Amino acid sequence: MARKVALGVLISGNGSNLQAIINAIESGRLDAEIRIVISNRQDAQGLARAQRHQIPTQVIDHRSHPDREMYDKILIDTLQARQVELVILAGFMRLLSPLFVRLYSNRIMNIHPALLPSFPGLHVQKKAVEYGVRFSGCTVHFVNEECDEGPIIAQAVVPVFAHDTEETLAERILRQEHRIYPSAIQLYSEGRLRVTGRRVVIEGARANEEAALVEPPPET
Ligand code: GRF
Repeated sequence: MARKVALGVLISGNGSNLQAIINAIESGRLDAEIRIVISNRQDAQGLARAQRHQIPTQVIDHRSHPDREMYDKILIDTLQARQVELVILAGFMRLLSPLFVRLYSNRIMNIHPALLPSFPGLHVQKKAVEYGVRFSGCTVHFVNEECDEGPIIAQAVVPVFAHDTEETLAERILRQEHRIYPSAIQLYSEGRLRVTGRRVVIEGARANEEAALVEPPPET
């Protein structure tokens, strides 16, 4: 039987990526087990999603722990108590301290709703629409000490149309997030990710040399 990687998922809100991960596990596409879902907000909808699937949840409110390192120590204790191997950031709206990042070096994944290194930070779907890029997408990466800068594991590209708003683009990107996040975690679970410097080498990855998207599509 395949090894199941022990996950701790950190959320702050809706938790649709968490849901995609749960669905992938339940349908046998992802060899993982979610040991705990932690939210820094009591009102995160993702907590109810976890509870519906009998996954343990815990709220660790950042407002009651103003010191970032103290807060992160509580996170670490909670993850270690559940023997979490891989930390999944799924819409967790807090920066992790160097202490946390070093302890879980190359064992923290994040998903970002843009094609890094373009559009790091917040409100990136709006920034992509305003900038006028023809493509945006999402990026799964390992987390290092810099925000949205760690080694890239997977990306998906979507077109950006003239009629797009921040909301329509966010929805299009989110659909791809739900595809690539579980599959990136599965690559980890299979032991196929090797980090060398900035680059993540995926053992046995297929390459489609002809893959290309053009927007607008050529008319001749
Ligand atoms: C996603 O857009 C993700 O890329 C970003 O936060 C959002 C989380 O959405 N990091 P959800 O809570 O998983 O629905």
